[in-house]
Formats: sequence, structure tokens, C-alpha cells
Amino acid sequence: MTENEHKISERDKANVLISEESILSRIGELSREIERDYGGSDNKLVLLGILKGSIVFMAELMKQLRLPMEIDFMKVSSYGSGTESTGNVEIKLDIRRRDLETSDILIVEDIIDSGRTLSYLIEYLKLRGAASVKTVTLLDKPSRRVVDLKPDYCGFVIPDEFVVGYGLDFDEKYRELPFVGVLKPEFLEK
Ligand code: IMP
Ligand code: MG
Repeated sequence: MTENEHKISERDKANVLISEESILSRIGELSREIERDYGGSDNKLVLLGILKGSIVFMAELMKQLRLPMEIDFMKVSSYGSGTESTGNVEIKLDIRRRDLETSDILIVEDIIDSGRTLSYLIEYLKLRGAASVKTVTLLDKPSRRVVDLKPDYCGFVIPDEFVVGYGLDFDEKYRELPFVGVLKPEFLEK
């Protein structure tokens, strides 16, 4: 099997929920909103990508945003059971900046589900003294929320379905798909 045949067959395992074209144009709209809100700030704008799922969205947002910026990354894992109200979030890779007091942090996420990851990160970065902390997510599943959290900027609100592609994985696969899709049921086993 050639490399190309492999890519095509991965694509065929998912049904397209949001096309690449729609994603690109929505990221353009989000960029204009973000430019309006941050254009007048004297602080440094830092896009903080949450690894790994955010990287495709983050790269496109960087290209479309017409503002000076720096980028950084954090890696976290979230463990929570349905009965817990806060869940446990473990920091695997921390942000290492000395200029948080003069940085406007814009956290870039792939998707908000329970909301635990982002609400933890917002508190954490505020405690570390960031000048401001806001959030942009490509996707939001508000029906799954267990903590009170609303993103400042959101690409698409989606129903409670497990999605892959555009950075999002199922068991570390499908991140490379250029669209957001729903796996066909026969591929949902590991
Ligand atoms: P939260 O703390 O429950 O909001 O967790 C959000 C994280 O769960 C995201 O950053 C994703 O890594 C993962 N996640 C939630 N829903 C999906 C999905 O439908 N597909 C892939 N990953 C998901
Ligand atoms: Mg993630």
C-alpha cells in the first residue's frame, strides 16, 4: 500500500461534519473578532496552544491573525469521573515565561467537553499573574459541560458526538484529517 492510499483510506473512515472550507472561513471570522479585541492592548499577545489537539487550529489561526504575537504550548491531561465536580488536571508541560504580567494569554483549544481542562488552566494562568486570560476553541460541546465555562471565542458548537480530524484524535489517530468528522461506528473500537 502506498502512503497516499493509506491517507485516503483514513479519510474514508469518517463522515465529514465540518468541511475544511467552512473551518478556514470561520477561522477568518474569529481572527477579525480577536483583532478587534486585542488590537488596542499594550501587552504582548501570546497564543497558548494546548497539546496536542490544538496544533492544526493554532497554525491556521496564527496565519490568519493580523496581529503581532508570540506562541507557547502547554500539555495537560484531564482525569475526571462523572461524579466529581472539578476533576483532576495534571500539567505535563508547563509554560515557561517570565513576562506573564505583561502578556495577554489566549488559550487555544481544539474542543471543550466537560470544561475541566480549560477552567483549570484559566485559574492557573491567572494565579501565575498573566495580564489577561481568554480562550478560543475550534469546537464546543456545551451539552457535556460539568463546570461553568464559556469560551470567549468559539468556531462551531457541535452536538454530543465524538469527532476526529483537524488535530483531534481517537486513540492518537486521525489528527491529520483536514476536516472535522465523525468516525463511522465500525472504526470506533481501538
Ligand atoms: P474537557 O476537560 O472535558 O473539556 O476536555 C477536553 C479535551 O477532551 C479536549 O481537549 C480533547 O482532547 C478531548 N475531547 C473531548 N471531546 C472530544 C472529541 O469528540 N474528540 C476528540 N477529543 C475529544
Ligand atoms: Mg486536547
